[in-house]
Amino acid sequence: MIATDEQTPLSNTSCDQAVAPIGVFDSGVGGLTVVAALQRMLPHERILYIGDTARVPYGGKSAETVTRYSREISDFLIAERAKLIVVACNTASALAVPTLAPSSSVPLLGVLQPGAVAAVKSTINKRIGVIGTKATIGSSAYEKAIRSLDSDVTVSSVACPLLVPLIEEGLFDDEVTGIVLRRYLEPMLAQGIDTLVLGCTHYPLLKRAIQNICGPGVTLVNSAENCALAVKDLLASQTEVDSINHNDHRLDIVLTDSSEGFLRVAVKSLNLTIDTLAFRQIGK
Ligand code: DGL
Repeated sequence: MIATDEQTPLSNTSCDQAVAPIGVFDSGVGGLTVVAALQRMLPHERILYIGDTARVPYGGKSAETVTRYSREISDFLIAERAKLIVVACNTASALAVPTLAPSSSVPLLGVLQPGAVAAVKSTINKRIGVIGTKATIGSSAYEKAIRSLDSDVTVSSVACPLLVPLIEEGLFDDEVTGIVLRRYLEPMLAQGIDTLVLGCTHYPLLKRAIQNICGPGVTLVNSAENCALAVKDLLASQTEVDSINHNDHRLDIVLTDSSEGFLRVAVKSLNLTIDTLAFRQIGK
């Protein structure tokens, strides 16, 4: 891994859209679950990831603040010639994408709609649970997206504000995490859900612990996997921006503040190889 300073340009100067990076961002490590899925499905693509470690967590902030952060990061990615932007954060997908996407100069793809589509496909008894940050659950964005696809579905939603800090600390299999998860999940399980949307990109890192508590009768919907599939479809439909013939596989990461936990999760838990790591101030 190469660490770069403030002066080093992150992108090459080529204007060729096929070799331009896919821009991805989240408040912290959560969006790396989307990066891992993107690398599995699109191994020839270059990814430029922004982890807003200076301002994590987003989940308790207002729509105005999350929209401002998301706009600042999107502008940064566009200046770095990103050919499309993946908002690898459910909170920003719920609160900012509806405002930013219509005027964006490159496609801006959130994680929420692909997760809702996958949940509706998965449920048999039409009872879906959704867990997410306070802001995501408070926006009712999943509930609206799911019910616009199938109005017969009952959606139970629970905000889980303690999970992001536990994950950022790398406490995936910890006893404390287990107690917190049971507190959040048991009331929802009592309602008989057969599908649970992991409505925060941090949560796939707790997939094993969550599945153990839910049991085999509940299908977990991972917004990271479903978003990566949506990106693959979008690129396949726009051959001029698809890097399939270029093989530019690499992962460049920019953090807005130092974070030891970030690298631990990236390297040890997700097994990602980072080509360059840089620190930048984005926004005020
Ligand atoms: N990973 C994010 C999400 O999907 C953000 C969590 C946070 O920063 O609170 O919502």
